Amino acid sequence: MNVLLGVCGGIAACKAPELVRELGRADCRVRCILTPAASSFCAPLALEILSGHEVWDESYLRPGTGGVEQHVELGQWADVLLVAPATANTISRLAWGLADDLLTTTALMVDGPVVVAPAMHATMWEHPAVRESVARLRQRGVRVVGPDVGPLASGELGVGRLAELPAIASAVLAAASSGDLAGRRVVVTAGPTWEAVDSVRFLANRSSGRMGFAIAERAARRGAVVRLISGPSALAAPHGVERRDVTSALEMLEAVREECEGADVVVMAAAVADYRPASAAAGKLKKRDGGLESIALVENPDILAELARMAPDAVRVGFAAETEDLIENARQKLASKGAHLLVANDVSRRDIGFDSHDNEVVVLRREGEPVRIGKRGKGEVADGILDLVRGELDARTRSAVIS
Ligand code: CTP
Repeated sequence: MNVLLGVCGGIAACKAPELVRELGRADCRVRCILTPAASSFCAPLALEILSGHEVWDESYLRPGTGGVEQHVELGQWADVLLVAPATANTISRLAWGLADDLLTTTALMVDGPVVVAPAMHATMWEHPAVRESVARLRQRGVRVVGPDVGPLASGELGVGRLAELPAIASAVLAAASSGDLAGRRVVVTAGPTWEAVDSVRFLANRSSGRMGFAIAERAARRGAVVRLISGPSALAAPHGVERRDVTSALEMLEAVREECEGADVVVMAAAVADYRPASAAAGKLKKRDGGLESIALVENPDILAELARMAPDAVRVGFAAETEDLIENARQKLASKGAHLLVANDVSRRDIGFDSHDNEVVVLRREGEPVRIGKRGKGEVADGILDLVRGELDARTRSAVIS
């Protein structure tokens, strides 16, 4: 997603470079415009380095600099316009459609969502002129995030502090989201499971949880109420997602059983261990006792297969981690596990799959041709999978209407 960040001249502008980072962590491409006053508070070079692009300012409006085309080009490039920090001056000019600098001129070229994160002294924020402008922006559908209560530049305590950067990034993502999963209950499993051998050892696999976390994050961004059931993973819970941690396959089964009640969608992205040691030793097995020469294993329940009984009405999505015969193996899993969609994943490649940031998958459906989602970031792959999930949900709604 392309985010055009307009930085205005206030003390909070010194947080703009970190905001660019925060947006980058959320997979956004960022370009920055500085108002004339902003460069006193924020070094353009810092923004240039972190956004990976030149930073645009008033100098582009001088004749011969290509500035006229620039505001058109930037406005059309942006999926979302974010103004942060937004000063009282810029808020008022945006509210009334003035176009007397590059930022406000470009703002009139943006036809996507606009997010404004104000920061100013509490008295300015309460001033009727500012209240009126903010109300006007809200009326036009502009999202206003913050300001927060806290210490202000003047040393006083009050409302006027720039909202926390993750909250601003979330507002941007939410503003750009289609909201097409609004109100849907989605359960996602992710990560590996650990199967205890004794009190200090376990059997595990190389899953990092990235793909499942990405699906949870994108589903939440699209308005779903998301429960993420995660095996051991170092990843942080995505914003707006409720996380439940489990360790073993048996614990994951229990968690899924509880969470899938009433779910519209269940996505089994976890790399569930097929086997567990028949019994885990209470203490640490000693080498001298020959305790690790062989480990008797028993099969774990297949959670996805059991979902057909536990969540018969939900759209059920499975993954197939394969190192050979990708499509054929995945087709068999689609049928044998009663899934509606099966995401086939070649885990023999090092550039995609386990623990990498990218993925490339083929999604098999009960009906219809397989859909290939070419190599891209796991967030975008997650969105591609969720598009197909939405297709399944829409088809159900249509058939319910017909019958
Ligand atoms: N799965 C599950 N419970 C298990 C094993 C797997 O729910 N005990 C789910 C996984 O979450 C995934 C799908 O089944 O959605 C396929 O997992 P995969 O490991 O590819 O297949 P397996 O059934 O384990 O078969 P194999 O290991 O023989 O490829």
